[in-house]
Amino acid sequence: MRDPRRVAILISGRGSNMKALVEQADGYEVVLVASNKPLAPGLEWARGEGLPTWTWDSKGVDKEEFDRLLSEALDDHEVGTVALAGFMRILSPWFVEQWRARIVNIHPSLLPKYQGLDTHARALAAGDPISGCSVHLVTEELDAGEVLGSAEVSIEPGDTAEILEQRVLAAEHQLYPKVLSEFVDR
Ligand code: GRF
Repeated sequence: MRDPRRVAILISGRGSNMKALVEQADGYEVVLVASNKPLAPGLEWARGEGLPTWTWDSKGVDKEEFDRLLSEALDDHEVGTVALAGFMRILSPWFVEQWRARIVNIHPSLLPKYQGLDTHARALAAGDPISGCSVHLVTEELDAGEVLGSAEVSIEPGDTAEILEQRVLAAEHQLYPKVLSEFVDR
């Protein structure tokens, strides 16, 4: 039986959401930070915090082969919940099946709007008055699993995609730890 309160965070880059999840951990414990990019800046921060890390360069590695290595590392650390935080790799159907209903992700839009990339530019181009972020379950379909929680952010006149990204990111850092706490408890 996997304990859902034992969380692994998967990153590929700076890891600002990872940092928020670690710093605001409530009802869960971050037992591993894993990355498919050995040089991801977020890994350095995690090491500095004394958190266990795992990394394997996914470049040129078969998708399922990588996912099997990752899954092994998660089991080695007795992980129960997998939290994606800027993990820029689509997980294989094999991995999703292994970790069914135990993988969550944060996405910078009010899902089901703007699945995929360039969410801020698309919200601006559409003339939307609000944007936001969503935490959702990960399924085989990209950004389409059950929405566990979301937060709205206003779009202001003169906003660029970069300005909006910063405003949404601040909301992500509040939303993700809160929704993860509720999720591991349900
Ligand atoms: C965030 O915008 C998140 O919503 C998306 O990827 C970005 C990751 O940023 N999934 P960070 O690495 O957490 O700073």
